[in-house]
Order: sequence, then structure tokens, then C-alpha cells
Amino acid sequence: MCAKTTGGSEEAKRRAGERAAKAVEDGMVVGLGTGSTTAYAIEAIGRAVADGLEVQGVPTSFQSRQLALEWEIPLTELDAVSGVDLAIDGADQVVDTAEQVVETGDDTGEPASEHAGTDGDLIKGGGGAHTREKLIASAADRFLVVADPSKCTPVLERPVPVEVIPAAHSVVADRVRDLGGEPTLRLASHKDGPVVTDNGNFVLDCAFGPMGDPKPLDGALASTPGVLEHGLFLEMADIVYIGTEEGVDVRQ
Ligand code: 5RP
Repeated sequence: MCAKTTGGSEEAKRRAGERAAKAVEDGMVVGLGTGSTTAYAIEAIGRAVADGLEVQGVPTSFQSRQLALEWEIPLTELDAVSGVDLAIDGADQVVDTAEQVVETGDDTGEPASEHAGTDGDLIKGGGGAHTREKLIASAADRFLVVADPSKCTPVLERPVPVEVIPAAHSVVADRVRDLGGEPTLRLASHKDGPVVTDNGNFVLDCAFGPMGDPKPLDGALASTPGVLEHGLFLEMADIVYIGTEEGVDVRQ
């Protein structure tokens, strides 16, 4: 199982991000995720573009768009392409029940061994970008997740971010309580009011405690009127790259 740490080191994030970026090939349309770990992948793709790699990026957020523009990665949108070859994105929690390290490679990206064993279910939306992240991940042929060991868990338990249209936030909060959760409206600050997503909506962070089987909740939240999207990403990840202090563990 992933070593538990209190926080992800930048080195671990960098290793994960750069390892995933190696999967990007000439001619690909690539989903560009959001967050500090994916930023390392975007930067690595940017360096490869400067060296002649031809790709088109589909950003999942204003933040990832800005970073891609800085690195001069050509950008496109979902409605302008016939498909997305792969998407790279981070996670706030990833289920990792593997009993042993699957692969410990070094920075060359060469695997030491292969082993399947994790289900890779995720909680995303720490940056409030999970609606576009899920859209682009589900449109992609392959969804690569980048994380550090502090994100690994045997069971999803962090609050689930739920993007709601502003007029619906109190009604959705009531529904979340009916489902056994405790919703908290995400605030930019007490002075500034609610966080507003790239889509102009609010986010409810909904604490349900440990979710042994998150599937029913996935369906219940998705079918709640006023909910645009929630941050449970179940059975979506194709590969999870977990950066460590020594290398990269790969779960697939
Ligand atoms: C944004 C996300 C991010 O991918 C997630 O919060 C992880 O971010 P970081 O790599 O900075 O820890 O889901 O909505």
C-alpha cells in the first residue's frame, strides 16, 4: 500500500506528473487537468512542445488553460475535436488497496515490475474544477491520474465536492443531509462569500465519512436536481501514477 504521509512533497508530485507526461505522443489531443501535481505534467508537455512535439491540449479549468498558454501548448476545446486521446489529472483521494508496490521506476520512466490490484476510485474537485475534469476524463480514451502518497487511502472518506447551480444550493444541501451527509458551502473567504466555479456555480463540500461502497451515493448525487456534477470518479482511472521520494509507483 502507498506509504501514508501527511502531505505530498513537491518532488513526489513532480515525479508523478512528469512520468504521466511521458505517455503523450505526437498528434495527440490531451486533456490537461487541474492542480499542483498535474501542473508538473503540463510543464513537461510544454517542454516537449518546445522541442517539437505536436499536441493539442484541452484544459479542464481556467488555471490549467493559463499554465498551458504560458508554456505555449496549442489549445483546443472538446467541441472542436473528434476525441481526446488521453487526459492527465490529479486527485484529492485515490483508493489504493494494493498490498505491495506495483512498480518502482526511476525518473527514466522504466518500470521495475507490473502488478494489477487497485481499483483507483477517486475524489476530485479540491480546485472546484471537477465538472470539466470529469467531462474530459470520460471523453478520453485513457485517463491517467497523478498523485502523491498522501492521497492514497483504503477507502474514500474526504468530503465530496458537489457543484450546484447557485439557486439550488440550499435545496441540494437538504438532499445531502437526507443522504446522511453534512454539506458545507465552500467559501472564498468569510468576507468574499462563496467560491464561484469556472461555470459560475457554487460548491458544496459534503462529508459522508468513510464510503465503503460509494456507488449508490454516486447515483443519488448525480440524479439530484440542481447538481451539475460531483467529485466521485468511480472506475474511471486507467492508470494511477503515485510519485514517491524514490520513484513512481504505477497502478493499473
Ligand atoms: C481540482 C482537482 C485536483 O486535481 C485535485 O484537487 C488535486 O490537486 P493537487 O494535485 O494540487 O493536490 O481535483 O478540481
